[in-house]
Amino acid sequence: MAEMLLPASQQRRVKAMTAAADSAGRAAVPLLLCALLAPGGAYVLDDSDGLGREFDGIGGVSGGGATSRLLVNYPEPYRSQILDFLFKPNFGASLHILKVEIGGDGQTTDGTEPSHMHYALDENYFRGYEWWLMKEAKKRNPNITLIGLPWSFPGWLGKGFNWPYVNLQLTAYYVVTWIVGAKRYHDLDIDYIGIWNERPYNVNYIKVLRKMLNYQGLQQVKIIASDSLWESISASMLLDAELLKAIDVIGAHYPGTHTVKDAQLTGKKLWSSEDFSTLNSDTGAGCWGRILNQNYINGYMTSTIAWNLVASYYEQLPYGRCGLMTAQEPWSGHYVVESPVWVSAHTTQFTQPGWYYLKTVGHLEKGGSYVALTDGLGNLTIIIETMSHKHSKCIRPFLPYFNVSQQFATFILKGSFSKIPELQVWYTKLGKSSERFLFKQLDSLWLLDSIGNFTLELQEDELFTLTTLTTGRKGSYPLPPKSQPFPSTYKDDFDVDYPFFSEAPNFADQTGVFEYFTNTEDPGEHRFTLRQVLNQRPITWAADASNTITIIGDYDWTNLTIKCDVYIETPDTGGVFIAGRVNKGGVLIRSARGIFFWIFANGSYRVTGDLAGWIIYALGHVEVTAKKWYTLTLTIRGGFASGMLNDKSLWTDIPVNFPKNGWAAIGTHSFEFAQFDNFYVEATS
Ligand SMILES: *[C@@H]1O[C@H](CO)[C@@H](O)[C@H](O)[C@H]1NC(C)=O
Ligand SMILES: *[C@@H]1O[C@H](CO)[C@@H](O)[C@H](O)[C@H]1NC(C)=O
Ligand SMILES: *[C@@H]1O[C@H](CO)[C@@H](O)[C@H](O)[C@H]1NC(C)=O
Ligand SMILES: *[C@@H]1O[C@H](CO)[C@@H](O)[C@H](O)[C@H]1NC(C)=O
Ligand SMILES: *[C@@H]1O[C@H](CO)[C@@H](O)[C@H](O)[C@H]1NC(C)=O
Ligand SMILES: *[C@@H]1O[C@H](CO)[C@@H](O)[C@H](O)[C@H]1NC(C)=O
Repeated sequence: MAEMLLPASQQRRVKAMTAAADSAGRAAVPLLLCALLAPGGAYVLDDSDGLGREFDGIGGVSGGGATSRLLVNYPEPYRSQILDFLFKPNFGASLHILKVEIGGDGQTTDGTEPSHMHYALDENYFRGYEWWLMKEAKKRNPNITLIGLPWSFPGWLGKGFNWPYVNLQLTAYYVVTWIVGAKRYHDLDIDYIGIWNERPYNVNYIKVLRKMLNYQGLQQVKIIASDSLWESISASMLLDAELLKAIDVIGAHYPGTHTVKDAQLTGKKLWSSEDFSTLNSDTGAGCWGRILNQNYINGYMTSTIAWNLVASYYEQLPYGRCGLMTAQEPWSGHYVVESPVWVSAHTTQFTQPGWYYLKTVGHLEKGGSYVALTDGLGNLTIIIETMSHKHSKCIRPFLPYFNVSQQFATFILKGSFSKIPELQVWYTKLGKSSERFLFKQLDSLWLLDSIGNFTLELQEDELFTLTTLTTGRKGSYPLPPKSQPFPSTYKDDFDVDYPFFSEAPNFADQTGVFEYFTNTEDPGEHRFTLRQVLNQRPITWAADASNTITIIGDYDWTNLTIKCDVYIETPDTGGVFIAGRVNKGGVLIRSARGIFFWIFANGSYRVTGDLAGWIIYALGHVEVTAKKWYTLTLTIRGGFASGMLNDKSLWTDIPVNFPKNGWAAIGTHSFEFAQFDNFYVEATS
């Protein structure tokens, strides 16, 4: 429980305030007053000797990869509510920054995101959902900072190599085109652009990119490099004046709150441009609370960006639920505003990009830390965290042991803050549900007659924000619908004339890109289909499969019937499959097991136990050619599977003992065009 100690002369006034607040029904957490002045640390907050670094904001990453995939398919009003919890100022996480993946067609952790240029002469700014998400964020917060970063690139940029720096002009052109398209088609101003996520940078590429941005009149678009570690890029910048000038921000990933000397010597802004990546439990929230303060205190970082923004991908994909909140059930509308949202609010609602950290920030004597920020207009926000080691471990890097224990901390306001009369108090206590509070407003704290100090009793796993701003708010909506499993019977005929999104609901592409497609020549049944549209392997970020695959459904499905119309477009070498019990996705997709039923344009079929096709259960000849529609049916019951082509049984009762469960899927033999229609699945788990 929070206990506030004030000088005896102050007690009556605070007590009066507390009582008033109680009768207004606001303060469920009482402020206990104590006459004893307990021993403890004293911490000065002062701006008379100048200020620290400029604050650049707290944000989230959508993408890297496909982490917002299921969000777009939420029914209203739930989809808007989720967006409000993320972006609406003074409501929830109220993020200052949205960083998105520039879709590059490749697998980038939990799926692929489509490129705006699948092919050399192709340009389309309406694929995927990142454009939509940026617009929704901007609608709620017109000041939100937008960042674009490539993870993978379409294959044609590599000219036969799995490498984006083969033709520097071409890659820069591709990236600048995305920025220009954002403005032209969506009126989105991209503020920052990155190089290549967690992969090598190329000094000449960065210079070419800067020149091309300037040439296009995009001088205001700043460059972040290199979304990897501090050392290499900092050393390169110190050796190369032109490079130093070209880069505005050094962005490092998972810095463990520390930076390096060379990065500081560049004099550039330092950001933790990807961090968190931790299950969004209270421990994840503890991680987030600790690094939001300590990335600045220990490492001078003025921005921290969470991977990922919202966990909107199938939970059994890699890093399930590692988002600030969870929205992974568009079929039910269920979502969870997890505690990292409220930990974010402690900082985001009470400071804005353009505010400055005070120089007087640091660690507390018995563990934990404090930062303070000002707008230079007299406003002050103090954020105090006491996250314990056990309850604040992030997924990476290793966190050396430290001890946090109960303590009294006295904050002494000096300089232009010495006359602040009142501070609003917001409080979070993570951990046991019985004593858990999330972003609770307590009674405000009065600092009468230039006493200029106050004392808090701090326990472990707490967050306090004390601020002159009165705009904070804990937003809420009625509880969303209950969690439900994916529907056990599901079908999609893809008959959408002008789809708002390029991808069909709930299909999560793991290699390749599957888009709504219109056969303009075909007035009949297969006029509208789902088509795999990549015709070559992208420049990969992960180990994409050699086949393309999109998954759907419930990971717990055991017995199921999948039926789908399929159309191979490539004569002789083409092939397609439908599958059940697919047990892996994301960066592990290459090694996915399951039961895969394939047909090939050369007149053969196969049944395999894996996506790669090494484990062959059955094979044979069948009357199949390219450019004809067939209906495939795969039935899996217990330890046996059977397959049908059109209305005829093709193979029956093949033993399939592993895996026991997994998603349904469709896909192609290689990076080849192929179409799918009338997808149907009926399953039990
Ligand atoms: C956007 O920023 C401007 C300038 O800092 C500020 O005046 C305005 O209130 C901000 N708008 C919102 C919606 O936060
Ligand atoms: C603090 O911020 C508020 C809201 O932005 C502003 O109106 C006020 O002038 C600022 N300064 C002080 C001393 O409150
Ligand atoms: C942590 O600090 C408390 C109070 O100083 C002390 O009692 C405890 O033994 C310390 N724990 C460890 C593991 O160092
Ligand atoms: C806080 O203010 C009171 C009243 O002026 C003073 O007696 C006390 O020493 C101050 N505490 C600290 C730690 O400066
Ligand atoms: C048909 O094509 C598949 C995929 O390329 C290949 O594995 C298989 O051996 C071919 N079968 C025949 C009979 O040519
Ligand atoms: C799956 O089918 C097998 C064989 O028919 C049956 O024994 C088993 O109970 C079924 N499991 C579920 C979850 O329906």
